[in-house]
Amino acid sequence: MNLNRRNFCKLGAGAAAAALAPYHFALAQTEDGFLEIRAQKAEQSLYPDSPKSTIWTYNGTTPGPEIRVKQGERVKVRFINELDEPSSIHWHGVRIENAMDGVSGLTQNAVKPGERFEYDFVAPDAGTYWYHAHNRSWNQVGRGLYGPLIVEEPYPTFDSEHDITLVIDDWLLDQNGQFDEGSMGMIMDWSHAGRLGNWITVNGKSMPEIDLRAGEPYRLRLINVSNARTLELDPNRFEAKILAFDGQPLPEPISMPYEPYLLSSAQRVDLLVIPKEGQDFVLEELSGNKPFPFATFRVTGKVNGAPSVPVLKPNALTEPDLNAATTHRSLITGGAMGRMGNMTYKGAPLGRQEMMQSMQFWAFNGVANLPEQQFFTAKRGETVIIEMINDTAWPHAMHVHGHHFRIEEREGSTIDEGRPWKDTFLIGPSQTTKIAFVADNPGQWLLHCHMLEHAAAGMTTWFEVV
Ligand code: C2O
Ligand code: CU
Repeated sequence: MNLNRRNFCKLGAGAAAAALAPYHFALAQTEDGFLEIRAQKAEQSLYPDSPKSTIWTYNGTTPGPEIRVKQGERVKVRFINELDEPSSIHWHGVRIENAMDGVSGLTQNAVKPGERFEYDFVAPDAGTYWYHAHNRSWNQVGRGLYGPLIVEEPYPTFDSEHDITLVIDDWLLDQNGQFDEGSMGMIMDWSHAGRLGNWITVNGKSMPEIDLRAGEPYRLRLINVSNARTLELDPNRFEAKILAFDGQPLPEPISMPYEPYLLSSAQRVDLLVIPKEGQDFVLEELSGNKPFPFATFRVTGKVNGAPSVPVLKPNALTEPDLNAATTHRSLITGGAMGRMGNMTYKGAPLGRQEMMQSMQFWAFNGVANLPEQQFFTAKRGETVIIEMINDTAWPHAMHVHGHHFRIEEREGSTIDEGRPWKDTFLIGPSQTTKIAFVADNPGQWLLHCHMLEHAAAGMTTWFEVV
């Protein structure tokens, strides 16, 4: 990582690693079947032996409680906002009913301080999802408002001992190892790569150690909840295979055909690991000069015969029909070192000065930040192709709400994620990418960069399915 991690690494080497508690939470469940999720401030240590930071949490910790339901079951959550700014919860990757999508300002009004909102929806697909604040997300997610949402297969797969959720966050800490308040909302981050951190936590812990038994198959569910950090990982170093991307299982587990593997903000990957006898391994982030280890796996026991690996079945998604598709083009412009072109914000032209004042630096088709007018309208059931042209000097992590899509075509950059179902895709600088999906979910859906400072600084638009 091209950041100043030096001070931290020195400290970190001697710090005792925190053991990872089994990642399953008891939820406060009320008599009417609703789980209560309270957004509230809390104190949590983010760096070994450092003073605690005041962060924003769901039910007192970041990540918030792991919500687990079976495929097809209702998720019922009573959200209670105990913060002093409005908020809402978005269920990332769930092909949800529009009114439950949790987007403040589009699918609902933000829930005011002291108020509550009931979410009640069916989770149609099994897999690894997550939930997070969707109002001023750059601030609220950046301060810790997120948690895992696991939708279990209705058939037996990995049991709870062999199913491990790893919520990975990239924090920007100050010299005391505390949350760096002063660096929130910086023009530099909003117009460049987003707010990048200098310390990684897993399930809110620093350098956790996780015990695994040799020869037994494990499912590791990696969720990148960072505001902007694309994690560079190499699952081949411990011979892991890919079971699923963004919650959707592959027809069969594959080895990553290239390295490093890029896991952008909001993306998930489920790994299949069968630890070898006596071979401990680490998860490391590889973008810097030196690998940055952030979780250790200790392998104990002896291999006992051949493992029987559970098989995941693909979810029932409708394949796009490319012969009868409507294409919508979106040109991404702006950002530092880019051509700003003619951009408008709230109907008025964005000059240099307005840009700085409104903190708007990016646009889709020349329009910055959740325009009145939708990007396009699709008829329910129609196949839509979105052609994204990234005319900026930066990579972006584009997220489509309410649908999963396939990447159909890429050109102009080395980023290649293959053709699996996804809800968030990376697009490299100067890259053009075509994604396709069946617009089968009626309502108004957000389409935005999940580098949350970019989303706030203009990279947010929406489409409608009628
Ligand atoms: Cu993960 Cu618009 O969100
Ligand atoms: Cu972006």
